[in-house]
Amino acid sequence: QELEMSLEQIEKGGYDHFMLKEIHEQPEVIKDTYRGRMIVNEGIVKMASIDDHLEKFLNANRIIIVACGTSWHAGLVAEYIFEDLARVPVEVEYASEFRYRNPIITSKDVVIAISQSGETADTLAAIKLAKENGAFVYGVCNVVGSSIARETNSGAYTHAGPEIGVASTKAFTTQITVLALIALKLASEKGTVSKSELHQKLAELESMPRKIEEALKVDDHVKYISSIYKDAANFLYLGRGYNFPVALEGALKLKEISYIHAEGYPAAEMKHGPIALIDEQMPVVVIATKKGHYEKIISNIQEIKSRSGKIIAIVTEGDEDVRALADHVIEVPETSEALSPLVNTIPLQLLSYHIAVMRGCNVDQPRNLAKSVTVE
Ligand code: G6P
Repeated sequence: QELEMSLEQIEKGGYDHFMLKEIHEQPEVIKDTYRGRMIVNEGIVKMASIDDHLEKFLNANRIIIVACGTSWHAGLVAEYIFEDLARVPVEVEYASEFRYRNPIITSKDVVIAISQSGETADTLAAIKLAKENGAFVYGVCNVVGSSIARETNSGAYTHAGPEIGVASTKAFTTQITVLALIALKLASEKGTVSKSELHQKLAELESMPRKIEEALKVDDHVKYISSIYKDAANFLYLGRGYNFPVALEGALKLKEISYIHAEGYPAAEMKHGPIALIDEQMPVVVIATKKGHYEKIISNIQEIKSRSGKIIAIVTEGDEDVRALADHVIEVPETSEALSPLVNTIPLQLLSYHIAVMRGCNVDQPRNLAKSVTVE
């Protein structure tokens, strides 16, 4: 009798929740995402969906990314990657805002729609509008054969496998993986990165599953930190550059599944508002890894500390400077700035997960939220 397992337990593969299972699947699914799409030694990105429409991408005046929720955050990370590596202007839009504001769209625009489900009503409507106005529309979807995958001119699947937890985890990191590949492909075609740089970036992408595996080892430490702050009323998440969208995503995860109010902010904007909220009751999660704006982040941390905020910092392994200031540090492996969102997001997913479990929340099916939002 006791040996009997429900179908659901089997599907959860020994994890308590789908969300935790999906967090732990990330090393594997990221491999599935890049498999067959790059030849690292030769510095080649192989994506037929781009090759077949290369002129569209190379002649584009700009790329407009449309998405909602977590997918919109992946779009923001992609903006940094595309502009930095491929030197193409990018705008990232909430699909719901884009579709209703009479946007300027021309046949020289490439629109990239990002959607896990491929069914989000606002994103679907945004791409229809873009197509009517002559833009070339490319989809980054997880669900094969979904409406958005069918409606787009071309696209790439993320290959994350079914994502059951309503709060998105592996969909986010695989979206970033696909978008990084596209950026590197365009960068190599345009010559905006050298062959050796390209090779090095691809090698690093290939090493991400191992680094994420490493980052997942912080689980017990994150659980301990969660036990201290689980009753906080508010959380602030700060990051800069590539990790500003990671701060937004960390805050969204916490809101979604633990119902704690959380805000993500670009760290330097803190002084234009959120700093007024900081007191000894306020946990502030700061992404403070070494590559990027490290010195600037340290001064932001000092500003929080002098107002008695509680600092939980995501740092690079072996970091000493932030450790001296922060209340808690969570170490992750060293990674180039462009790919650091893939690693830095892992402890934030775990933090929201443990806090939600400790608060007795329904982690996989949070109140009022739906996995795919097919109404506007
Ligand atoms: C809902 C889900 C989110 C998701 C968003 C966009 O709000 O709860 O997890 O990020 O929709 O969904 P999509 O399927 O278009 O990525």
